[in-house]
Amino acid sequence: MKSANWLVLVLAVILLEFLSWRTEALFTPTDNYLIVCGSSQNVTFQGRTFVPDLLLSSLSLKSESTSYVATSNSSVPSSLYQSARIFSGVASYKFNIKQEGRHWIRLYFYPFPKSGHDLLSAPITVVADDFVLLNNFTFENYNGSFLFEYAINVTSATLMLTFIPWNNSVSFVNAIEVVSIPDAVLPDQALALNSSAPVSSLSESALETVYRLNMGGPLITAQNDTLGRTWENDSKYLHVSSSAVNLSVNPASIKYTDSITQETAPNRVYATAVAMGDANVPSMNSKVTWVFPVDSNFRYLVRAHFCDILSQSLNAMVFNLYINDDIAVPSLDLSTLTGKLNLPYYKDFISKSSAESGTLTVSIGPDSAVDITNATLNGLEIMKISNDAGSLDGLSSAANLLPKSLSKKNRIPVIIGSLVGAVAAVALIGFCCCCMPILKSKVTNHGHPMLPLRLYGNFRTMTKISATSQKSGRASCISLASSNLGRFFTFREILNATNKFDETLLLGVGGFGRVYKGALEDGTKVAVKRGNHRSEQGLAEFQTEIEMLSKLRHRHLVSLIGYSDERSEMILVYEYMANGPLRSHLYGTNLPSLSWKQRLEICIGAARGLHYLHTSAARSIIHRDVKTTNILLDENFIAKVADFGLSKTGPELDQTHVSTAVKGSFGYLDPEYFRRQQLTEKSDVYSFGVVLMEVLCSRPALSPGLPREQVNIAEWAMSWQKKGMLEQIMDSNLVGKVNPASLKKYGETAEKCLAEHGIDRPSMGDILWNLEYALQLEETSSALMEPEDNSMNHIPTIQFTSLEPFDNSVSLINVGNSGIDDDGKDSATSSAFSQLVNPSGR
Ligand SMILES: *[C@@H]1O[C@H](CO)[C@@H](O)[C@H](O)[C@H]1NC(C)=O
Ligand SMILES: *[C@@H]1O[C@H](CO)[C@@H](O)[C@H](O)[C@H]1NC(C)=O
Ligand SMILES: *[C@@H]1O[C@H](CO)[C@@H](O)[C@H](O)[C@H]1NC(C)=O
Ligand SMILES: *[C@@H]1O[C@H](CO)[C@@H](O)[C@H](O)[C@H]1NC(C)=O
Ligand SMILES: *[C@@H]1O[C@H](CO)[C@@H](O)[C@H](O)[C@H]1NC(C)=O
Ligand SMILES: *[C@@H]1O[C@H](CO)[C@@H](O)[C@H](O)[C@H]1NC(C)=O
Ligand SMILES: *[C@@H]1O[C@H](CO)[C@@H](O)[C@H](O)[C@H]1NC(C)=O
Ligand SMILES: *[C@@H]1O[C@H](CO)[C@@H](O)[C@H](O)[C@H]1NC(C)=O
Ligand SMILES: *[C@@H]1O[C@H](CO)[C@@H](O)[C@H](O)[C@H]1NC(C)=O
Ligand SMILES: *[C@@H]1O[C@H](CO)[C@@H](O)[C@H](O)[C@H]1NC(C)=O
Ligand SMILES: *[C@@H]1O[C@H](CO)[C@@H](O)[C@H](O)[C@H]1NC(C)=O
Ligand SMILES: *[C@@H]1O[C@H](CO)[C@@H](O)[C@H](O)[C@H]1NC(C)=O
Repeated sequence: MKSANWLVLVLAVILLEFLSWRTEALFTPTDNYLIVCGSSQNVTFQGRTFVPDLLLSSLSLKSESTSYVATSNSSVPSSLYQSARIFSGVASYKFNIKQEGRHWIRLYFYPFPKSGHDLLSAPITVVADDFVLLNNFTFENYNGSFLFEYAINVTSATLMLTFIPWNNSVSFVNAIEVVSIPDAVLPDQALALNSSAPVSSLSESALETVYRLNMGGPLITAQNDTLGRTWENDSKYLHVSSSAVNLSVNPASIKYTDSITQETAPNRVYATAVAMGDANVPSMNSKVTWVFPVDSNFRYLVRAHFCDILSQSLNAMVFNLYINDDIAVPSLDLSTLTGKLNLPYYKDFISKSSAESGTLTVSIGPDSAVDITNATLNGLEIMKISNDAGSLDGLSSAANLLPKSLSKKNRIPVIIGSLVGAVAAVALIGFCCCCMPILKSKVTNHGHPMLPLRLYGNFRTMTKISATSQKSGRASCISLASSNLGRFFTFREILNATNKFDETLLLGVGGFGRVYKGALEDGTKVAVKRGNHRSEQGLAEFQTEIEMLSKLRHRHLVSLIGYSDERSEMILVYEYMANGPLRSHLYGTNLPSLSWKQRLEICIGAARGLHYLHTSAARSIIHRDVKTTNILLDENFIAKVADFGLSKTGPELDQTHVSTAVKGSFGYLDPEYFRRQQLTEKSDVYSFGVVLMEVLCSRPALSPGLPREQVNIAEWAMSWQKKGMLEQIMDSNLVGKVNPASLKKYGETAEKCLAEHGIDRPSMGDILWNLEYALQLEETSSALMEPEDNSMNHIPTIQFTSLEPFDNSVSLINVGNSGIDDDGKDSATSSAFSQLVNPSGR
């Protein structure tokens, strides 16, 4: 008998242990967006990691006109506030929501000075789905950083958070959170103080946290709350004449239950409290009172948290809770309600401010019916409830504030419109697939992909990038945290350098605008790219390019010298590439033909540049428009990859890397990318394969004038390569001057690049190795057989000594670490070379 009792007891203890362990399990929110706006890197704030806004695939930003980023200096309170996204037109963040239900929306603001805009007086209007969160709010009368917290019930798969600037002004935000809330945390109904009937359907309202206090205790920040809430200490609101004492116990002694967990409030909230002070004040009126300024036009959800950490035994305390002048709970007896000491309890009410005063007061005080004269309060939350217009700020509804195109009524036509668009796009792609080899012209993009665009600069250049198209779906920005953009040029300097954009100095025209040859005052020759403001595609490419180039420095990438953004111009200054694009040395001009060795060296250089793009940055960078006009040659015929206008970082972060528009140039386009719109480094590899064939055959990637089977160089050359007869179609200038083994290696390499499926294509590192090997075969053979002068066709000014990095026949092993690559990261090459030297290693 006794042992059975023991067993029951032991089981009960185990069960209790289990229960208490279970209630301490952490809540993991299904939706958990912590984003820092405009930043280019993760920011850790209060123990949590905020991710840059445009790096998340499940989040998109659509803005009516340009949005951009401003960054303050390090005097801001936290790095979370160091960048802001500024909107000069209506802009919406669209969050994909995995689980419907209540979500926190937290908005962080820091109207930092010197931002080029008066953020302090910028009226902020924010709409979340159908709720107005902020309406014409300014920070003018406030100081410091701001956190606004809202709870709204999201009932669809997306949440639209829209920022609406007023005329001629801007709106901004520094960081945003959208995080799931457990269903049990916020009530659907609560008792209204003026009537005994509960007010229901709170879940259909939006709530804004206006006060959340940890009575008698310290500030609790987001990292110490499983739901990321902030609990202020109460001393600011304590009515001065109140006599109050602080209480605290060990937080571990707080006993949670099934219905009251740490999601209700952290144990540190319950472990401290304020109680009535000593009875040196007249006992009956010695209420402890907190006073809160509130907007008298709104109702508030008031939640009072209790936990008896004061009493030594049960039933030792009975008191009243007052809200305004009403007794909210008479004779509150925690012992009866909880059955235990240190066991939390809370109660919700709905109230307004006390008549006309614009304040809401909460008090605890003794119950006159009993002669126990102490009272306690542990925590308090006051949340504003949205009004009938669905607003938490003013009387305008979301529909009134949103531009017509964004309000719900107009959504259906938009959806139909985009459906039609999608069908048209599919049809277009189908058409292109059938006719691709015949198509002559370059197809421009039809969609408006949300490219993650960031620019770098510094304070003096914090100017708005003018948006030219109102309908632009693009957002652009300047993030000024790291100013590695190189030299800043005044517009006057640019005018001087280009002789006022003299058309005789025009080097080329691209999607972004025009490129001029120029000379700086010190005589340095430069290429000046002048942004074409009429082209929104150009604008975006331009910004991508600044960002890419400013981060990337490599011997085989065209380097950025500086930029100018005065007078709303966007001008980039590059090193001048004396010998222009590779293509002009292959065909279509009268330039002397390149030797095989030169061609190999150029291909190797370009491959190195691409290899660096694919591997050196934290995330791989995909060029997306590899072609012979984007490989430029300097005065020493060193190849450098140019035009990052279509660059996009690789798929590491962005798992569902489906780009919304096929970009690139026909003839070079990876067929797999074209079909599946899935972008990988292997798309560049394919295009590079086309370049290799073009270099070998000296003909364009697409030659529509030729017989059908010859139009597309990739198909045409592949058919000959498969027959092992590539020499049949190669440049006639090369016939008889190429070592067959070298050509064989080259042909095999190009063939692998042009493989149908990305996974079958080699990496740029492998290609580099193979091309180096082809060069090696060429050089050793020509050394063996008393060669004809390979430089016969060279332009006389070429000095081979300056090709030293490639002239590696002497000391192969050193190539990898001879400082060719500024970053010293070319380990693939050096290991490749050791394999080359020791063939058994491969
Ligand atoms: C940024 O944070 C996200 C989420 O925590 C993480 O997945 C990512 O690896 C971080 N990126 C960097 C560069 O630290
Ligand atoms: C940083 O900003 C503060 C004002 O926000 C200003 O007082 C200070 O001079 C700035 N520092 C620098 C280095 O610009
Ligand atoms: C916005 O607020 C400013 C004062 O802060 C006021 O002058 C202006 O009339 C308000 N605009 C609207 C449309 O409410
Ligand atoms: C803002 O803070 C600064 C110093 O931190 C202070 O001098 C200024 O008076 C404050 N302004 C307001 C409106 O509180
Ligand atoms: C904004 O501009 C529109 C028309 O351009 C005007 O009707 C409206 O009053 C303006 N609003 C403000 C707040 O200036
Ligand atoms: C209670 O207050 C609400 C608004 O707060 C009001 O709509 C309702 O009519 C009031 N009920 C009574 C009985 O006064
Ligand atoms: C959210 O709203 C829906 C529909 O009004 C309701 O069924 C659901 O219970 C609400 N969720 C919460 C957590 O209140
Ligand atoms: C109670 O604690 C608050 C904050 O923890 C503190 O500001 C206040 O001075 C304390 N009051 C007393 C009477 O100790
Ligand atoms: C409570 O906040 C006040 C200012 O509001 C601060 O002076 C005090 O130190 C805080 N107390 C604790 C314990 O953090
Ligand atoms: C908050 O949590 C951190 C670690 O998560 C801890 O080091 C710190 O002491 C906690 N702060 C408080 C006030 O509990
Ligand atoms: C309430 O309890 C606290 C803590 O035990 C004590 O300091 C205070 O004097 C009590 N107040 C009254 C009125 O008894
Ligand atoms: C540029 O300015 C320098 C003097 O600063 C002048 O000598 C030169 O002729 C100018 N060049 C052009 C193209 O105007």
